[in-house]
Amino acid sequence: MATIIGGLTTSHIPAVGNAIARGLKDDDYWKPFFDGYPPIHAWLEKHKPDVAINIYNDHGLGFFLDQMPTFAIGAAHEYINEDEGWGIPVLPPFPGDAKLSWHIIEGMVEDEFDITSCQELAVDHGFTVPMQLFWPGLGDNPDMPRAIPISANTVQHPIPTLKRALDFGKSLGRAIRSYPEDIKVVVLGTGGLSHQLDGERAGFINKEFDQMCMEKIVTAPEELTKISRHELVRQAGAQGTEFLMWMMMRGALGDKVRPLHQNYHIPVSNTGAGTMMLECIE
Ligand code: DHB
Ligand code: FE
Repeated sequence: MATIIGGLTTSHIPAVGNAIARGLKDDDYWKPFFDGYPPIHAWLEKHKPDVAINIYNDHGLGFFLDQMPTFAIGAAHEYINEDEGWGIPVLPPFPGDAKLSWHIIEGMVEDEFDITSCQELAVDHGFTVPMQLFWPGLGDNPDMPRAIPISANTVQHPIPTLKRALDFGKSLGRAIRSYPEDIKVVVLGTGGLSHQLDGERAGFINKEFDQMCMEKIVTAPEELTKISRHELVRQAGAQGTEFLMWMMMRGALGDKVRPLHQNYHIPVSNTGAGTMMLECIE
């Protein structure tokens, strides 16, 4: 049967993609951020997951305001990347696992989650930057797993509640664990933490709230479901709603997790950047 070995979180700031492309990881500005990743690389090298479920929020590349699925799952053999205008080099396609995708979709629809299945999906920086951060070199990295993108709407209100995100993750976890093949799966929650890119509060970061989220997501994720969506925007900024992805990831891990590593650095571009590694306890 498939095993979920753990979960990883990271911000997916496009400027990080540019820093990687330009070899700036050791610059004074970037080093405190990139220093958060080597312990995760070592863990991934040791456990070598076969598949990464990459939970992210599309920002207008795969979907736009005219057609906005609340929850979408990739069901393709590969996922292309395209130019979003951030100046990041376009990356080669990411191999998928359509068989596992359909198993997850079957299981979750049976579980009464109404999901949009995508046999074609272009993946944006929300997906690609975390793949680059966790598996440097991507296709040249022998350990890069097959990937399945899952996108939730954080762009156009109404967005899902934090409770729905956690419940989605729980259902996702059940679907993955019922897959009959002996594969190892890691679940990524990308985005966040607090940031607001536009409007009067552009540049808004809330360190206290971010740190509370990083603590509670380990020990008491159910408590976080009491935060309303409006409160989330107030506390984390308009784009801080990306914390929904972290909650989806957390739900999939089950009750018992061991926090192995974390890093928090502000600001990275306009964002409070949180990185976490949680291991599932059998
Ligand atoms: C930034 C952060 C994001 O999550 C994003 O999608 C785009 C930009 C930023 O801080 O620059
Ligand atoms: Fe984002």
